[in-house]
Amino acid sequence: MNNLQKVADWLRSSKKTVVLTGAGMSTESGVPDFRSASGWWTKTDLQKVATVDALEFNYPLFHEFYSMRIRLLEKCAPHEGHHILAKWEKDGILHRIATQNVDGFHFQAGSKCVDELHGSIYTFRCHSCGQSASKESFLAKERCGHCQGYLRPNVVLFGEMLPEKAWQNALSNIQSADLVIVIGTSLEVYPVNQLPMMTKGKKVYINKEIASHASYFDCILEGKAKEVLIKLDELLSTNK
Ligand code: APR
Repeated sequence: MNNLQKVADWLRSSKKTVVLTGAGMSTESGVPDFRSASGWWTKTDLQKVATVDALEFNYPLFHEFYSMRIRLLEKCAPHEGHHILAKWEKDGILHRIATQNVDGFHFQAGSKCVDELHGSIYTFRCHSCGQSASKESFLAKERCGHCQGYLRPNVVLFGEMLPEKAWQNALSNIQSADLVIVIGTSLEVYPVNQLPMMTKGKKVYINKEIASHASYFDCILEGKAKEVLIKLDELLSTNK
């Protein structure tokens, strides 16, 4: 039995499957990841754009970087892989998705049970007083109407805590899962990169490049997320 069939069997027999996704899940939608050759961090110094220091001491560059990502996302949409995960949720094959992505594509594809571990790029607040703000005000580089503070998207910047509820949800669901499928992430960023090791269930890794630290997975499917999910879905629908 090849690995694809093995994972399809595990999906069919699993009572609780959780999927953990990263930026590689959205590259086939035209959104760059971070650490691949064409990734954001190979072109831009993350310290200068994705940290609290960058926001507080270099706001123009911080604002330019996130405005560019927001504008790019306006031209992109979830792909068939996102839609397959939403269908698996509806069909009771998939229990929940935990994602590092701030692009909202899982929700846009129809998934309901999604924990956004690194926040969302679609909602905004004042960095100083926390007052919520609109996308238009952020893009127009307006200051907070309440305290004149800097506006920012509700993404988790390096050095910031993850949203507590999303983290606790992901942790408890992964710990009690029969099957955890990790898709499109380099697993280089803490604490999310610890999650796969916290499950008692089987661990599957679907990724374009397989890094050495992925040796603890029970099964590895090297390939592109959308392509692999289409093949798995075909196997699931044919061998009913
Ligand atoms: N299908 C499968 N895997 C892919 C695809 C694809 N189409 N495209 C890229 N990949 C793989 C890359 O080979 C890489 O291993 O996805 C991985 C993406 O890894 P990163 O760029 O490191 O992205 P991610 O793991 O999500 O980063 C984690 O770091 O920069 C911060 O907050 C940001 O949430 C992000 C976090």
